[in-house]
Amino acid sequence: MDTRRARGFPSVLAKRGWVPVGFPPLLGMKVYINGKFYSEQNAKVSVFDHGLLYGDGVFEGIRAYYGRVFKLKEHIDRLFHSAKAIMLKLPMTHAKLMEATLETCRRNKLTDGYIRLVVTRGRGTLGLNPNRCSNPQVIIIAGKIQLYPPSLYRKGMEIVTVATTRNHHNAVNPAIKSLNYLNNILAKIEANTAGYEEAIMLNAEGYVAECTGDNIFMLKDGQMFTPPLSSGALHGITRGTAIDLVAELGLPTSEPNMTRYDLYSADECFLTGTGAEIVPVVKIDQRVIGNGKPGPVTKKVVKAYHELTKVSGERIAKR
Ligand SMILES: Cc1ncc(COP(=O)(O)O)c(C=O)c1O
Repeated sequence: MDTRRARGFPSVLAKRGWVPVGFPPLLGMKVYINGKFYSEQNAKVSVFDHGLLYGDGVFEGIRAYYGRVFKLKEHIDRLFHSAKAIMLKLPMTHAKLMEATLETCRRNKLTDGYIRLVVTRGRGTLGLNPNRCSNPQVIIIAGKIQLYPPSLYRKGMEIVTVATTRNHHNAVNPAIKSLNYLNNILAKIEANTAGYEEAIMLNAEGYVAECTGDNIFMLKDGQMFTPPLSSGALHGITRGTAIDLVAELGLPTSEPNMTRYDLYSADECFLTGTGAEIVPVVKIDQRVIGNGKPGPVTKKVVKAYHELTKVSGERIAKR
């Protein structure tokens, strides 16, 4: 791992043992753009692309484990829903996008890692009008990921609530996985400057929505809870998987509006996300959750999730 210190990294996070990385060295990746593969140095889009100029586009973050792409169909489904919501016509079919994702893994000899699928509105004028952009750019990057240090999964994470409010669904609907992630980035900056890695975002009504890149779950008196999608939570694919795994443990998941008080009085809490997987949470806004250690149900969900990633997903190798 590249352990060069990133400039401006908050010293409070460094004291907590976080190791920021500088700009990663070139890894010899082959990047897919519109049906062709380019070296990292040559993988480029126009500076007039509205994905860059306006954050106009959609994306997915996907994981590969043990030679399979986990929940690939679900990710491509969500990409299509996001694209439809912003009236971006994807230039490829669902099946072709799935195949291009698998082919990108093959070209990069990726069996375990992280895949970023991006579709931009394409090159346009400097004006806002998306109708002036005719060629959406389909970009697929298949690389490595290490989101959080392993000790964090053992000890559990401490998180805080931040002031940045989750987008209202009449603005950029949080269900759209758009290239405009500034709402989440602002919340992340608040968390970082407070000395934390992840933040809880409340919606405009003050109910818990989700974290900057993860959904949130809590266990109380043998019942699992997670905020409803209408709260401003992303339709998380790991969220859906966690609900299924929790059900297999005999625990139903309810989706009521939740306040910070509910979280503070939880017996257990965890976050879910494709990148982070299942992350135990042991402190929220300085309130200890349960006994301050990852709880037994959380540990079971972590284990079941890892088991599932071993046996499920679209095979990367051609049969
Ligand atoms: C804002 C936000 N919430 C939740 C999630 C978790 O969603 P998923 O489990 O589909 O990765 C993500 C990650 O994509 C996210 O960006």
